[in-house]
Amino acid sequence: MGDSSKPDQKTKPRRLWRKLVGFSLLGIAVLLVLIQLVPFGRDHSQPAVTKAAFFADPRARQIADDSCNDCHSNLTRWPWYTNVAPASWLVQQDVDEGRAGMNLSEWDKPQPSLDRVIEHIESGEMPPLKYKVMPNHAAARLSEADREILVGAFRVLYARQPPEAIKASDPDDD
Ligand code: HEC
Repeated sequence: MGDSSKPDQKTKPRRLWRKLVGFSLLGIAVLLVLIQLVPFGRDHSQPAVTKAAFFADPRARQIADDSCNDCHSNLTRWPWYTNVAPASWLVQQDVDEGRAGMNLSEWDKPQPSLDRVIEHIESGEMPPLKYKVMPNHAAARLSEADREILVGAFRVLYARQPPEAIKASDPDDD
């Protein structure tokens, strides 16, 4: 009852709230613009293919291309969002770490053991979930049958074209 004499008592906090939200949104927008100036993540390097791991089975080749090559080869596709921070940073980190772990374009360099590759495919750990959830990576959501084809193709690859050296793998690093 006593409140009716002070009508602005309710509107004041609301106006303050709106101002706060406005400033926050502006702050976020400015931040998003500023982080675009960070140079990391935009060079999109495509180092030379020194020795390609070749899958004889065309279906396996397709599966590897759809689900592994973006991070584990020098033939990475860079969709538009890989130019926009912070997505560009996350993708760059995945590609750097992926290529360092196994590189299907540098089969003349040390690679993980066949067992390790099979383990990563069969467990469903690879391709990573964050990759599969992207709408443009629907083909990377492998079925059981796809996984079997890919595992079979890696077995043939390691038999016919074994990497020159097997990397000592750190058991903690998976
Ligand atoms: C989005 C990028 C991405 C995709 C796509 C991807 N990987 Fe990976 N992969 C990584 C990263 C990053 C690592 C290193 C960190 C880790 O193990 O999680 C890795 C690690 C690995 C390793 C372990 C390497 C080591 O250090 O011994 C294997 C094997 C592997 N991936 C196989 C695959 C296969 C096979 C596919 C396709 C079915 C695939 N990956 C798809 C990013 C990716």
